[in-house]
Amino acid sequence: MNLSTLQQQFGAKRPQSAAFFQQAKDVIAGGVNGNLRFYHPFPITFDKAKDAWLYDLDGQAYVDYLLSYGALLLGHGHPVVQKALQNVWENQGTTSFGATHPMELEMAKELVELYPSFDEIRFTNSGLEATLFAMRLAMAYTGKTHLAKFEGHYHGAHDHVLVSVNPKIDTSGEHTAPDSVADSLGIPDYYLQHTIVLPFNDWDACEKILTEKKDQLAAVILEPMQSGYIAADIEFMSSLRELCTTLGIILIFDEVKTGFRITLGGAQEYYGVQPDLTALGKVLGGGFPIGLVGGKKHLLENCSPLHSQKKEDVVFHSGTFNGNPISLAAGLATIRYLKEPGKFDSLVQRTHKLRDGIEALAQQYSVPMTTVGVGTIFNILATEAEIRNYRDLGKNRNDLRLALDYLLMDNGVYSKPLNRFSMSDSHGPAEIKATLEAFEKSFAALGQLVTV
Ligand SMILES: Cc1ncc(COP(=O)(O)O)c(C=O)c1O
Repeated sequence: MNLSTLQQQFGAKRPQSAAFFQQAKDVIAGGVNGNLRFYHPFPITFDKAKDAWLYDLDGQAYVDYLLSYGALLLGHGHPVVQKALQNVWENQGTTSFGATHPMELEMAKELVELYPSFDEIRFTNSGLEATLFAMRLAMAYTGKTHLAKFEGHYHGAHDHVLVSVNPKIDTSGEHTAPDSVADSLGIPDYYLQHTIVLPFNDWDACEKILTEKKDQLAAVILEPMQSGYIAADIEFMSSLRELCTTLGIILIFDEVKTGFRITLGGAQEYYGVQPDLTALGKVLGGGFPIGLVGGKKHLLENCSPLHSQKKEDVVFHSGTFNGNPISLAAGLATIRYLKEPGKFDSLVQRTHKLRDGIEALAQQYSVPMTTVGVGTIFNILATEAEIRNYRDLGKNRNDLRLALDYLLMDNGVYSKPLNRFSMSDSHGPAEIKATLEAFEKSFAALGQLVTV
């Protein structure tokens, strides 16, 4: 058995998803609304979800660890979210005011309390919009034109940061001074020239580049945990904070993945480091589209219409659905539920229980895999090497991990091939048991592949 056999078997077992994909690819480019959603031979089509479970067109059930890329921290259709939505219909009577309403202030107050680095906030509709707006605020404030980002870090699909997210390692320059490589066709050269790429967790190299480029650099943006699971060293993080202050560079944490998932206060609470600006998204909307920029008053105030009478002195920010009551109600219900005593801790404990179970089974079946992560996110890596940044991931055996993913799907566990695992409040003992049984069967089959 090899990977292509597994993929063929996967396809043969899902005739309804196959037929759907045949139709979809004629009218939706590539059959998917997002390139990351595709995998071979076709992605599974789901038509129903409940709690921790996904159901596909062919009638198979899966314990869901994709959870809409981590957004559903309570799982699918959680009662507190359902109730919050009903309340919006009953009390507000609309899905969007396009104007100020009281829930905006309620959410702002919750966030300022949970994230001490926030003096002020602004809502957007996605993580992409949040990182873009945070960068614009930094450029306006500093009057500088360049941005530094880390190799392998994703900040949404906009031109300035769709750079060196997933570059080919052997043609991307030295590890200590990576080239800026476009991740898409259609990125104007301007953005490659104005985006400096840094090696994550390599302090000496970062210090050198940032110091050399300080006069051009408006901001450094990073995922404090690369891809949500590769942690920055504590010392690296505090050194970065200190150097940015010294050099007059704005530090932006992109906590779209890590917000509410590492701790409720995000990776910044875990590290005890305050960035100047933060981008949030995903969990914040309780399953509905949202994004947010939060941070220091002297930065956010630049977008205030009270800042100046002259509109050319103000950073522009707008969005039809910004702060809509549906996303805010679902998000508020999620956050308030998780703030109840013991709720978040219990979720982290269940995540550890699952990870311990997976690791014990990997050992039992001699599969060279381990789990990596903090809080409610983890990934499964097929390497014994220490993974501290994007280039280290070259040591991971993607072929083995991919084979595991196809076996897991056949045994009723879904994270999407090569994706990280996110937990939800709906993942209880029954789901953990079902998941570990699926891992046991999958590792038993994988054990034969490892020796090939
Ligand atoms: C760290 C990070 N930043 C930004 C984004 C973009 O968010 P959105 O997909 O809501 O535009 C993502 C999405 O996965 C993300 O993981």
